[in-house]
Order: sequence, then C-alpha cells, then structure tokens
Amino acid sequence: MPQSCEILFKPFTIKSMTLPNRIVMAPMTRGFAADGVAGKLQADYYSRRAQGGVGLILTEGTVVDRPSARNEPGIPFFHGPSLDGWKDVTRDVHQAGGAIGPQIWHVGSCKSSSMEWEPDSPFESPSGLFRSDVPRGTVMSEEDIADTVAAFAQAAKDAKRCGFDCVEVHGAHGYLVDQFFWADTNRRDDRWGGPTLAERSRFAAEVIAAIRAAVGEDFPIILRISQWKQQDLTARLATTPDELGRWLCPLADAGVDLFHCSQRRFWTPEFPEIDGEDGLNLAGWAKKLTGAATISVGSVGLSGDFVHAFHDDHSKPTGIDGLLRRMERDEFDLIAVGRALITNPDWPKRIRDGDLEGMRTFSTTDLAQFE
Ligand SMILES: Cc1cc2nc3c(=O)[nH]c(=O)nc-3n(C[C@H](O)[C@H](O)[C@H](O)COP(=O)(O)O)c2cc1C
Repeated sequence: MPQSCEILFKPFTIKSMTLPNRIVMAPMTRGFAADGVAGKLQADYYSRRAQGGVGLILTEGTVVDRPSARNEPGIPFFHGPSLDGWKDVTRDVHQAGGAIGPQIWHVGSCKSSSMEWEPDSPFESPSGLFRSDVPRGTVMSEEDIADTVAAFAQAAKDAKRCGFDCVEVHGAHGYLVDQFFWADTNRRDDRWGGPTLAERSRFAAEVIAAIRAAVGEDFPIILRISQWKQQDLTARLATTPDELGRWLCPLADAGVDLFHCSQRRFWTPEFPEIDGEDGLNLAGWAKKLTGAATISVGSVGLSGDFVHAFHDDHSKPTGIDGLLRRMERDEFDLIAVGRALITNPDWPKRIRDGDLEGMRTFSTTDLAQFE
C-alpha cells in the first residue's frame, strides 16, 4: 500500500459497528428494483463493492412505509416483501466481508427529475411546497407527521432485524426531512415550524429519537445532511458555525452517532471567512461543533489527478493529497465515494494496492448498467 494512503485503511469502530477501513459507498439511487422489491440484483451489486474493499456500504435511498414516499417506480421499498430481498443483500455483503446500512428515505414533494411518474397518492410535505414559489402536494397533518415518524422508526427496527449494521436517515438534498429544516419549504406556525432552524429541526429530532427507541443504544444511527438543495444549489441552512451548532447539537442529543455531510466537493471550506480557503469543510465543522463522528463526501476519485496522485510528485497538491491531509488532521472520520464506485467496484482495493491500471473515470453512460 502506498504509505501516504494508510490513513484510509485504518479500522474504525462506532458502537456495535467495526469497519476495516474509512471508505464508505455513498448512497446512490439506481432505480433497478422491479416493482420496488430488492433482490438478487441488489445483492450482487452491493456484494461486488464489498468484495472490492468498501468498508461501509450505504444503500440507495429506500423508502419508508408512507403512500407517497417514493417518486420513481424502480426505487426499492423498505417494508413489505422487499425486506426479504434486503435480508439477502445483508447476507451476501457480510459474506463478502463488508458492512452495510440502508438509507431510509421519504421524498416529500420532490417528483422525479428524470421521468413523468407519480405515486398513486399525492406528494406530501410540511407546507405543500416544493420551493417557496412552487406549490406541490398536500400539507401534512399532525396524524401524517406522527405516522411518518413511526414509519421511519419501523424501518430502522426492520433494518436491524434484517441484519444491517447501521441505518442512515436521508435528511439532505431537499427531500422530506430537509423540507422541514428549510424555511423556504417549512412555513408552518405550529410546533413543527418556526423562524429558527432549531425549531424546524423538531421533525428530524423526533424521527431520530423514535429510531433510537426502536433500535436500542448500540445500533449506529447516521443522519445525512446538506446545505444545498436540489431546488437551489446555493441554499444554506446554517450561515455561521453558531447556527450550525444550534442545528446539529440537538440532533446529536436525540441520537445521531454520525453526521454524513453532503457536499459536492469535499475540499470546499464551509466558513472560509473564519479559517481560510483550506479551512474545515462541512463534515469538519460538524465534528468540531457536535463531537460526533462525521462522514465527508464529494468528487473523490473523479479526476485523473486523483487516480494518478500516488505515482506523482507529492509536492504538488492534488485531490488525493488534500483528502489524506484532511483525514490525517482528523477533520472527519470517514469518506464516502459515489460515482467512482459505480464505475470501479473494486476502487478501494485498487487504491490500497496501487493498482491503477484500467481504473476508469465515471461517465454518465455507466448509470445504464447495474452490475
Ligand atoms: C446516480 C446517483 C444517485 C444518487 N442518489 C442518492 C440517494 O439516493 N441518496 C443520497 O443521499 N444521495 C444520492 N446521490 C448523491 C451521492 O450520494 C453523492 O453524495 C454524490 O454523488 C457525490 O459523491 P461523488 O462525487 O463521489 O459521486 C446520488 C448520486 C448519484 C450520482
């Protein structure tokens, strides 16, 4: 192994889960679950990444038991007959030496960006909005909210029962949980809304607390968050570290063990006005403010620079150098890799062994295959 990348291959333990290395497969919707049921296709796809050396696999978003929780027909359910399929997935991933958690999800009022498909029931969201200027679907009632919190808790309980090692709640990218966080989509004046981000976090906090009660103390809970939304890539929920802390600390208190901080580029500093252009990224700030472990993500392994970095002159800063340096200074604990792992299922092993021959750069045409 190139000495410089040893940090990536250090084991990591959180509660009942021990990972052989710091590399996480980012959750990526693939849309190949026929009738919404996971099965052999998914078991083969994920176990191939475990064989390829991924430490922790986070599955594609898989939806909780609410009538309009998904927005495409190939998105897998995380309830009903699909759970048997997910059991096969965990069995095969474990046999291949990997760990795995499902990303449990509700799309809120986001319809598919790639197809004209809608669920039988109307979309639901905090205030019946997709964006401040785009109404869509119904406003959730108290009963809808209570049922949704219970659906997340049930999904997490089922995750544990199906043999998963942890669970991730999708609280990012402008979907349901994030629609509660975001003032543009949460206009409620009851206890689920309010002028502060801390008030608008009540829904997420209740989801996390209900999950914690359902899975017990030792089962790791991950919450994925993002500043950016699909509705507005420039959106920011927390514009100061103070605001970030007041958002995330109550969620850590509710039971989050790991914050998965979604950025499009892991090297983007979150508050450069405070610590400069090489300052902490979102995962760095989240770790510093909450004391919880964090996962970073964003454009790892996508450039030729990254792929060739180990054999290059290391005096030049490259993508990989920046990543390793951030991990060495303990800015965050784990790094998620998305598109590079679609294209190269054995990406971690190749990085470990310095076997870069034949590594391919991601192309959108790779999304047509599910293997
Ligand atoms: C095809 C595709 C599907 C995705 N689906 C999800 C998803 O279901 N849930 C989620 O949180 N992020 C999703 N993402 C975002 C990824 O998890 C990841 O954050 C993003 O791709 C950046 O990482 P990368 O640059 O390593 O690809 C998706 C990304 C891609 C490319």
